[in-house]
Amino acid sequence: MSRTRTLVVVAHPDLRGSRVTAHLADAIRDLEHVTVHDITAAYPDGRVDVAREQQLLRDHDTVVWQFPWHWYSVPGVLKSWMDQVLTHGFAYGAGGTALQGKTLRLVTSTGGPADSYAAGGYNRFTVAELLAPLDATAHLTGMRLAEPLVLYGARTVSDEDLALHTKRYREVLAA
Ligand SMILES: Cc1cc2nc3c(=O)[nH]c(=O)nc-3n(C[C@H](O)[C@H](O)[C@H](O)COP(=O)(O)O)c2cc1C
Repeated sequence: MSRTRTLVVVAHPDLRGSRVTAHLADAIRDLEHVTVHDITAAYPDGRVDVAREQQLLRDHDTVVWQFPWHWYSVPGVLKSWMDQVLTHGFAYGAGGTALQGKTLRLVTSTGGPADSYAAGGYNRFTVAELLAPLDATAHLTGMRLAEPLVLYGARTVSDEDLALHTKRYREVLAA
């Protein structure tokens, strides 16, 4: 049986200025069945090679979108990639079956602490609730949405807790 292949789309507008996203991306590069794909480095001007991205998606069974939580959603660089790559006839609509049966996993980090993401907290909603548009995207494109991996309080996370989270991320990808 061939090994399941995982494409990790790393989407950060400024990876050099990132602590968490950059650390997590570096920590998974050695996993042999994992392709780490930094879309900001690949497309500095934001113009995506759609055919290349669609082939990368076809070539993998699991797709991870790894990004910092920006304004309760994905950063603009990932939204732009989605707008360009998830086209009619590829991801949805007539003949748009390329993603069906794949797994989508969201890996993100928030500045706000976990208790702020609740009905009574200052962010008012859980991350799962705020992820509804991505849940709908997975559903429309026929992908199974896996349990998201979220690091809360990312701006102040200790080195020890970041290491624990990194270990968990590697385990999830290796599973
Ligand atoms: C433009 C921008 C928007 C952000 N919006 C949010 C937000 O809506 N909620 C939140 O909890 N954190 C927010 N943050 C904090 C980031 O999620 C946090 O700094 C990031 O996860 C840390 O990862 P990094 O070290 O890879 O940048 C925002 C940060 C930036 C720069």
